[in-house]
Amino acid sequence: MKGKLESLLNNNNLPRHIVIIMDGNGRWARRKELDRISGHREGMRSVKSVVKAAKELGIKAVTLYAFSAQNWRRPKDEVDALMELLKQYLIKEANTLVEKGIKLNAIGRLWELPPDVYQVLIETTEKTVDCREMTLTLALSYGGREEIVDAIKKIISSDISIEELNEENFSKFLYTADLLEPDLLIRTSGEMRLSNFLLWQLAYTEIYVTKTLWPDFRKRHLIKAILNYQNRERRFGLTSDQIRKRKVQ
Ligand code: FPP
Repeated sequence: MKGKLESLLNNNNLPRHIVIIMDGNGRWARRKELDRISGHREGMRSVKSVVKAAKELGIKAVTLYAFSAQNWRRPKDEVDALMELLKQYLIKEANTLVEKGIKLNAIGRLWELPPDVYQVLIETTEKTVDCREMTLTLALSYGGREEIVDAIKKIISSDISIEELNEENFSKFLYTADLLEPDLLIRTSGEMRLSNFLLWQLAYTEIYVTKTLWPDFRKRHLIKAILNYQNRERRFGLTSDQIRKRKVQ
């Protein structure tokens, strides 16, 4: 049965692709006088809950910023713990993903991951390759600037000419070539920045920042973010009048 909040959603105007900067695990742990790793562990519970909720709500794609290219510079203990949590998530959730029809995808400099994590990631991706209900993308060792540089390297070694190159075919060289454009970016824990996430792809994305820390973020918070999105007017550089006329046509 749908909850009260969920029944307020307009199913004809759902964001198709939601991307999330999951921030605040450390602060959540500090407030509870726990170590940072406990914050990440609880953050993993939010990941499970939000992925399940997004699927139930009919969202077609979710992308999570799980580990940035810059996160390697954190203390070794924390990096190791995050890699272990990721591996455990993949091992434990593989069957649930298949059952729910969720295809796992990953973007970033994946070759920088520890070999055992990379191996499990590839295996889980392969297991879910035929799933069609929703795509879950994990951004791992991911940086937006790094992605653009990697795209340019691919372009230089491809046979595309400078004259041919445009925004549309450039985006096919990005890690996200097969993904929908993001409609909604959610950032938890109140910070107003992009932190090197999907710099190219977020050009027309609606941004929603909540003070809720990631380990506290669950289905009702996701619904609130979507309701907020549904009250926006997306203009893509056009005027309000133009948008209204387009809707009537
Ligand atoms: C940011 O919080 C969060 C991260 C760097 C890692 C996100 C990882 C998880 C939620 C757990 C595992 C993920 C998956 C996909 C299984 P922070 O540590 O920067 O928080 P702070 O700013 O409060 O210190």
